[in-house]
Amino acid sequence: LRRQQARRRTATLATVPVAVAALLGATGPAAPGGTGGPGAGDPYFPLSGNGGYHVRHYGLTLRYDTGSRRLDATAVLTARATQRLTRFDLDLKGLTVTAVTVDHRAAAFRRDGQELVITPRRAPRAGQRFRVEVAYHGTPRPVTDPDGSPDGWIPTDDGAFVAGEPQGAMTWFPADNHPKDKASYDFTITVPRGRTAVANGVLLGQRTAHGRTTFRWRESRPMAAYLATATIGTFRTERYTTHDGIQVYNAVDAREARAAAPVLKQLPAVLKWESGLFGPYPFRAAGSIVDHAPDVGYALETQTRPLYDSAPGLETLVHETAHQWFGDSVSLTSWKDIWLNEGFATYAEWLYAEQHAGDSAQRTFAALYARPASDGLWAYPPGDPGSGARIFGTPVYARGAMALHELRRAVGDRDFFRILRAWATVHRGGHGTTAQFVRLAEEKSGKQLQGLFHTWLYAAGKPNSP
Ligand code: ARG
Ligand code: ZN
Repeated sequence: LRRQQARRRTATLATVPVAVAALLGATGPAAPGGTGGPGAGDPYFPLSGNGGYHVRHYGLTLRYDTGSRRLDATAVLTARATQRLTRFDLDLKGLTVTAVTVDHRAAAFRRDGQELVITPRRAPRAGQRFRVEVAYHGTPRPVTDPDGSPDGWIPTDDGAFVAGEPQGAMTWFPADNHPKDKASYDFTITVPRGRTAVANGVLLGQRTAHGRTTFRWRESRPMAAYLATATIGTFRTERYTTHDGIQVYNAVDAREARAAAPVLKQLPAVLKWESGLFGPYPFRAAGSIVDHAPDVGYALETQTRPLYDSAPGLETLVHETAHQWFGDSVSLTSWKDIWLNEGFATYAEWLYAEQHAGDSAQRTFAALYARPASDGLWAYPPGDPGSGARIFGTPVYARGAMALHELRRAVGDRDFFRILRAWATVHRGGHGTTAQFVRLAEEKSGKQLQGLFHTWLYAAGKPNSP
């Protein structure tokens, strides 16, 4: 969530033309001739993800020197071929690759923009499992998203703020960088003594020797690459287990500690409240990373452990926590469906206010609907916003939430909350599309809802009547 959105200010929308990336050769999932192909077929990010295989597991071993900002790393990917692979790609931007093996045999590789193109000695057959090991090093740098935000490995004064939505995972590890392909992760991260490295999932252990500390983290539930983190800083840490058995780990920069404390204290209550609405929390671990990274400008719902660039407000904590169901557990298959993440997390904020002595969702909706037709809120419909700056724009967040509110008004509270819960349950740990959501809403309510969703997600301009 962006800081200005958290404060509910009207964002000034730069109506830049939609990137023409879609026209520049979107690649299908599997090019012919035994080669995997450089993209996953997403028109917003044609080169993100790759064809011909799925990754089951990433084992990332990272050593970061916070002084020189140098990373030394090895990535071991366990994957399954969906076709014979005489050649395949991973996404990796910058950094120097020194060696690649496939099933323990040295493989030929070359760099081509953000593609690491690998030619194994023996081509994995369709259905075969294979192991890829990549040794690499260098100074990771973030990419700049079309909205001007840094994305990926973002150095800070005492470490690095590591967030990857939508493209930045490839700035620090070789990945099949598209949410279509989710995998489990192991992280082994070595940093100078006194610094803490925080990744996703459960802390397996930490050990200090020779002036360095190694942290081992494991996320065993499927995770999209953009939700992985390995944030490093000088953190105060705290660990506890909730009544429901969720392992909480918080890491907070001392400069943010005072402001963060009262908000982080609410996490167990927020998890419980959201579980009551959306169904059981989808992961074993939870927590927060509160960094001091003033140049970032947003927070990210990194799986199990959202990452904040400064002490969050409670509404931001509610938002990022709601993403654990909507976005992290139920993932996108295509970036154009981004409202399934952001509209839902925003609506969770409205519901939280409504049920905690704040404005009703109806009141929040009405205040937005009152904005004139010239307002940025109506600049484009959220159902297929286009890549570029629009992907995280106000229409995706606010009008996306308005679409859910309209659904609620059309089907009534009982069916609406059944729909939300069913969505999180049926697609738990997997994926969902807008079309599937519309179908589910129609099934659960017995109502025709195509018109409503068309109006709120796809029709240009301010909808006529709410
Ligand atoms: N998904 C994040 C949220 O909670 C926003 C990420 C924005 N990222 C960016 N590169 N602008 O709303
Ligand atoms: Zn969000």
